[in-house]
Amino acid sequence: MRSVALFGAIAALLALPEAFAVKSHDFKTCSQSGFCRRGRALAARAQEAQSSWKSPYSVDPTSISVSPENATAKAAVKSSLYPEIKFGLELRIHDDGVVRVLMDEVDGLRKRYDEAASWALVSEPTLSKGIRWAVGKKELRATFGKTNDIEIVLQYEPLLVRLRRGGEDQIVLNGRGLLHMEHFRTQTLKETVEEVASDENAEGQEVLQTENVRAWFEGDSEDDYWEEKFSSWTDSKPKGPESLSLDITFPNHGTVYGIPQHATNLSLPSTTGDSPSYSDPFRLYNADVFEYLASSPMSLYGSIPVMHAHSADSTVGIFNAVGSETWIDISYPSKKSTQTHWISESGIMDVFLLPGPTPEDIFAQYARLTGTTALPPHWSLGYHQCRWNYVSSDDVRTVQRRFDEEDMPVDVFWLDIEYAQDHKYFIWDHKTFPDPVEMTNDVAATGRKMVVIVDPHLKRTSDYPIYQEASDLDVLVKPKSGEGEYEGWCWSGSSSWIDHFNPASWDWWVSKFKTSQIDTGFSWTESTEDVHIWNDMNEPSIFNGPEITMPKDTIHYGGWEHRDVHNINGMLFHNNTAQAVRLRSEIPKRPFVLTRSFYAGSQRISAMWTGDNLGTWDHMAVGIKMVLANGIAGMAFAGSDVGGFFGNPEPEMLVRWYQVGIFSPFFRAHAHIDTKRREPFLLDEPYESIIRDLLRLRYTMLPIWYTAFRENSISGMPIVRPHYVMFPQDTAGFDIDDQFFIGSSGILVKPVTEKEKTEATVYLAEDQVYYDYFNQYAYRGASKGKYITVTAELHQIPVFIRGGSILPTRERPRRSSPLMKLDPFTLRVALSKTGTARGELYLDDGITYSHQQGELVWREFVAEKPKKKTVRISSRDLASQNPGKAVDGVVLAEYDPKNAFAKEIEEVRVEKIVVLGLNSKPSAVKLESGADLKWEFVPGVAASEKKEGTASVLTIKDPKVLITTDWAILIS
Ligand code: GLC
Repeated sequence: MRSVALFGAIAALLALPEAFAVKSHDFKTCSQSGFCRRGRALAARAQEAQSSWKSPYSVDPTSISVSPENATAKAAVKSSLYPEIKFGLELRIHDDGVVRVLMDEVDGLRKRYDEAASWALVSEPTLSKGIRWAVGKKELRATFGKTNDIEIVLQYEPLLVRLRRGGEDQIVLNGRGLLHMEHFRTQTLKETVEEVASDENAEGQEVLQTENVRAWFEGDSEDDYWEEKFSSWTDSKPKGPESLSLDITFPNHGTVYGIPQHATNLSLPSTTGDSPSYSDPFRLYNADVFEYLASSPMSLYGSIPVMHAHSADSTVGIFNAVGSETWIDISYPSKKSTQTHWISESGIMDVFLLPGPTPEDIFAQYARLTGTTALPPHWSLGYHQCRWNYVSSDDVRTVQRRFDEEDMPVDVFWLDIEYAQDHKYFIWDHKTFPDPVEMTNDVAATGRKMVVIVDPHLKRTSDYPIYQEASDLDVLVKPKSGEGEYEGWCWSGSSSWIDHFNPASWDWWVSKFKTSQIDTGFSWTESTEDVHIWNDMNEPSIFNGPEITMPKDTIHYGGWEHRDVHNINGMLFHNNTAQAVRLRSEIPKRPFVLTRSFYAGSQRISAMWTGDNLGTWDHMAVGIKMVLANGIAGMAFAGSDVGGFFGNPEPEMLVRWYQVGIFSPFFRAHAHIDTKRREPFLLDEPYESIIRDLLRLRYTMLPIWYTAFRENSISGMPIVRPHYVMFPQDTAGFDIDDQFFIGSSGILVKPVTEKEKTEATVYLAEDQVYYDYFNQYAYRGASKGKYITVTAELHQIPVFIRGGSILPTRERPRRSSPLMKLDPFTLRVALSKTGTARGELYLDDGITYSHQQGELVWREFVAEKPKKKTVRISSRDLASQNPGKAVDGVVLAEYDPKNAFAKEIEEVRVEKIVVLGLNSKPSAVKLESGADLKWEFVPGVAASEKKEGTASVLTIKDPKVLITTDWAILIS
């Protein structure tokens, strides 16, 4: 096996072609993972025993202590299997109704890892006050929530936790009796017990019985308790078994979403029960899976243990704050209920129950726990051009020139690992990049940026200052002995890894990114503030490690094993990098950091992409689902490699992939070193022009994207929204994951992801007008949902404006987004069937944090019908309408509409207003303040008509209004 992995690694190093298909055998199945096997065996025994199965865990009623003041309840828990082992359970009710359930072993032989939540949480949650706990004989209860409709119930025997709403169970922990916290034990225990048992004395008989009692629950062998082999690797497991099995049931929710990242449907397929879709559970164990499958429950690069359970009546959710490897079985015993079984290798139980009841509430509840995406730099919403590798500074300059010659907008040029001498990140290879600062300045001359890769593996050589300093500081991950430096193999050959759990590494890492020499150590003086960072391989990927990652028994800060923190590891790296990029300038600027590995909380600071996808139609399609799944788990700034990382997409596929890309929050083209160059300017016609138009379309829509990002930064609402989020009650939409909406804008997109397609079927969930974005054709949905078929030739992408929306766009083609700063706006007013519409626009400098001091513009546009035959379109300031509303985590006490940023753009005009779906030709269009305006009207279908056809279009050219001021236009 090792030779296979090494071969794969060498093949990758040499960039051999993709003849080496997915190596599933590099990764464990559940049956190859000791604790997963034990967890599933436990579930199988429970299933077999049916109603005679009883959880051995119970609460000691005499131990219960409640604190109404801070909404906590604590209780001692024991297991009838091991009466001498003590556990403690705690319930905490947060002020927003979220309930946190914690359980840990008390006075155990060792300590379980209990810090996963502290890395994920944005701050310690505020607890509710004055909760009235009812301590009964059989259960403990508390009722809370805005309307006092939520209830938490702790049943004592067997231990069971229910979150109830409306008198019904919504989330049940241990309802199936699969809870098992393997306590710490010594390896000799079993032999001792067996010896005593074979003594056949009275005491021995008793022990034997206990053994049998344990066997029905735990199984009769110590299956992989003390050591575990996989292929040629041995995991020494010095702490022995410590896994945690927990069943979580949603008795009234028949669809579950979340737990990214997996290449699968948004609505999660079953893994157990009758005819499961997958035979293995979903796995969360951050992993670099070479040529991953387009449909699989296998782990990928990042893990967010968040799940939404949804029904037409409500949504609830859970966040299981665990950082160790976790497997999740899902089954649907009926259309209306879901069973899940979570099996984690180590760590305490720390589960947050999110009561909902709407998807919007779940996003807010989860955002309060782990934060939202800070507003990224505006330019990072533009187009990113990457490949492995642009080989020299001249190559970069040529690519940039070609984009300009072909009039294609682009904001960012990327450099992959080959810029770095011997893959020693930060250190430019001067043979090919003799002038990195000048090159960056050339790129920055048109407002553009560079993103340069910094991977976490440090080449172990004394002439590499980053490695040497980390080694001297003693901040490298240690091998299982706890002494010295762990060594593994990655792009740079023999490498070591910084232990970002070690606080001593933090300031030091920050200092590496300074662009001027700050002390005697290394500072990145061959870099500028226009260089941002790509953190890759941070699962971490280790070519000669078990499952291409770090051995579980390596040691991190505090003596924790890698197994305890594996899924969190990648987040610390990119978070510390983002801090470093932010802190390198005197006036902090928003960092852009792309990460491949992530955990709950990663969204606060970084963008992610879905890793090394294949240039296949399947991968194109599943990329959309993955971006949606990441979005609902908070990781909103997401995208997939446009074009596919591996392979050489034919022009048709490339065009379709750009159509997907321009509608992803993160939009980057990337390609493996072995692929042919495929920058859009290299394509023949008509492909080149189609892609030019697509790039331009992305840029015209940047105001819509930025507004959606900004909404996400406040509310946690995803940037791209699946149907169930938009129409939570429409059961027909629950499984739809190939079309989506952008923020609250009203834009609906259905990318085409199949070869030679010329038509697309689009689902309209409501009785509303949906206008074709490009030709203004008005389609009409139905209250029970309706499918429409639209043409989708290669140059066409099905994009619709939901009736009732107002879209701000900027329609002047520019070379990069910063050059659009003073460009005028176009407003598309898409009237609803009742003749009204609204929309929002958010703007700020896009670079600094001055928006947190109120330097921003936030407008609302409204179309209403003050009189039967009059439509009034107006613009008003929203920022001052929302005093106290948090902006990017900061509460604005006051807002000054004449703030410095607003002044900078005070002359920016609205150059055109297009109104779709008016009833009839107006007789006058004028400013409310009096002046007549110039307009044109093309008759067509009115929004109020039930009929379909090209909508009527009123175009007001130069309406003589500004973007930052209040105005109103009357159409009568
Ligand atoms: C990994 C990344 C890929 C990158 C390559 C070389 O495979 O996922 O995007 O190009 O490493 O750095």
